[in-house]
Amino acid sequence: MATQLLAEMFSLRGQVALITGASSGLGVEFARGLAIAGADLLLMARRTAPLAALAEELRATYGVKALALTADVTSDSEVDAALESAAARLGAPNILVNNAGVAPTGRAENLTRQTWEETLQLNLTAPLALAQKVARPLIAERRPGRIINIVSIFGLVGSSIYRMAAYTATKGGLINLTRQLAVEWAPYNILVNAIAPGWILTEMNQAGFQKAANRERVERATPLGRLGKPEELRGAVVFLASPAASYVTGCVLAVDGGYLSW
Ligand SMILES: NC(=O)c1ccc[n+]([C@@H]2O[C@H](COP(=O)([O-])OP(=O)(O)OC[C@H]3O[C@@H](n4cnc5c(N)ncnc54)[C@H](OP(=O)(O)O)[C@@H]3O)[C@@H](O)[C@H]2O)c1
Repeated sequence: MATQLLAEMFSLRGQVALITGASSGLGVEFARGLAIAGADLLLMARRTAPLAALAEELRATYGVKALALTADVTSDSEVDAALESAAARLGAPNILVNNAGVAPTGRAENLTRQTWEETLQLNLTAPLALAQKVARPLIAERRPGRIINIVSIFGLVGSSIYRMAAYTATKGGLINLTRQLAVEWAPYNILVNAIAPGWILTEMNQAGFQKAANRERVERATPLGRLGKPEELRGAVVFLASPAASYVTGCVLAVDGGYLSW
């Protein structure tokens, strides 16, 4: 009985979740977590082959529906075409995980306008555009929804380890956009939250962590004394998408081994 009640608190059966950046790294684990909870998945990124392989894995392992959607999230026309084809096959999403992102490094005084603009487009403009595309039909139909923006500990503090002004600025912007959307869309029961991962080993940072000195520095800066594993993000996304989080909106949930605590 208690096990069944617990399962209901976290069940996403009948929900359709769109995850951007699902072709590698954390996006793959967000997809696995939501599939374990029973959600059907729309997996979006530019590389088709890894998306198709993940969709197949999710269908076979968890018995959910899953579609690979090839699109550059900075292109309105590509995203619209992908969502249109998905709507015909799986329905419109009522959960969005804005995960696609980029983290260029380099000293602030040398940051080029081009890198700045590209980072802004991917890390901040695209999440807003996607949130609008998912929220508009929900608002029109008075259906509840969840939006989960993947930010970073470096949306809340500066980074002394790597220089990344465009990254910290865009993630900070996405955090306050999360709060603003939470306020504006609360009357529609569209809950908007953010997850701030700490140092998690993925494609994005693996080159940097091949240097033992970099890795040791990050480990020393983290109370738990180690890097996070991508699968350690699953619980946070399931919680924020689930009935268990029905009174949680505008929050930034850090999954960071305690990095922000000292
Ligand atoms: N890893 C960490 O330690 C860490 C810490 C804090 C926050 N984060 C955040 O977590 C998110 C995922 O990072 P990750 O570490 O998993 O990085 P990753 O392995 O490099 O994955 C980035 C994902 O974004 C997709 N992507 C990039 N540009 C895109 C575009 N224009 N259109 C569509 N998809 C695009 C990539 O797929 P395609 O190349 O196939 O398009 C890929 O699936 C990012 O927002 C990042 O800032 C990561």
